Amino acid sequence: MDERIISTEAGEQEISFEQSLRPQTLNQYIGQDKVKENLEVFIKAAKFRQETLDHVLLYGPPGLGKTTLAAIIASEMGVNLRTTSGPAIERPGDLAAILTALEPGDVLFIDEIHRLPRSIEEVLYPAMEDFCLDIVIGKGPSARSVRLDLPPFTLVGATTRAGSLSAPLRDRFGVLSRLEYYKEKDLREIVLRTAEILDTEIDMSAAVEIARRSRGTPRIANRLLRRVRDFAQVRSDGSVDLELANEALELMQVDRLGLDHIDHKLLKGIIEKFRGGPVGLETIAATIGEESHTIEDVYEPYLLQIGFLQRTPRGRVVTHAVYEHFHMEVPFE
Ligand code: ADE
Repeated sequence: MDERIISTEAGEQEISFEQSLRPQTLNQYIGQDKVKENLEVFIKAAKFRQETLDHVLLYGPPGLGKTTLAAIIASEMGVNLRTTSGPAIERPGDLAAILTALEPGDVLFIDEIHRLPRSIEEVLYPAMEDFCLDIVIGKGPSARSVRLDLPPFTLVGATTRAGSLSAPLRDRFGVLSRLEYYKEKDLREIVLRTAEILDTEIDMSAAVEIARRSRGTPRIANRLLRRVRDFAQVRSDGSVDLELANEALELMQVDRLGLDHIDHKLLKGIIEKFRGGPVGLETIAATIGEESHTIEDVYEPYLLQIGFLQRTPRGRVVTHAVYEHFHMEVPFE
């Protein structure tokens, strides 16, 4: 993937930066009101009954705070958080090792859970349902299955694609929460909160501008703020006003809607090479030199959300709004 300031993927350094900014409680968590309200009730009820929380599936585009929510769930429940990811678990034994090391009540967070191999999903079913593991010992006619009890735990799964999860796995989650792109006012609050933690003075109008260009994504908002703050420290007295924010954002090539050079390449590619579409995903991928699943998971969701792209049975089509955004003439249909 091309390096981009508005990537929704967290870099290594960024992970520790994110951790330092991460809200610790539901009260500190800004936005996603419906998800938050539901979780608050379920957490309170589970604590009241002194039970573990039901398994939770968080789904939605990257960068919207799924990992943060998993950590908050664990801290609100007063238990440990264990973290792994679908691609990191290669063999059933890997999952068995993680599950048997859990303490009662722990939250096990599996990121990118749609990438768990099917053979491993099957180990997970009895673990989620009955808190036990079925292990096969030996081979051939002498093979036998042994049941191992596990401590009760809460599985929090995260995925960008709820549709890629197998139905039996999806059905085993008691709570399904869809994260939405953040509203501008929520992102503005996140920018102000982060600026305060970073000890950076920022005007309200500058915070709004950063929020507006963050594609509804807190990870991007915080990244843009950090870069704008660099500009403020080097080019001015360290405080961020609207003029400085605009100048820095223009230099980073993040446009008024938060689109960057890759979005431009994708949209202009469809217009210039395919007369605005329809064009198949694989063709777009080959044209702009990106993997098709990266386009589907990372670039496309926001372009669909703001009505710049449409998915049709014959492929992707750009809308009139794109021509307007680029000050281009809309062709005859
Ligand atoms: N930082 C990143 N995401 C956040 C959120 N949803 N609320 C508060 N701070 C955040």
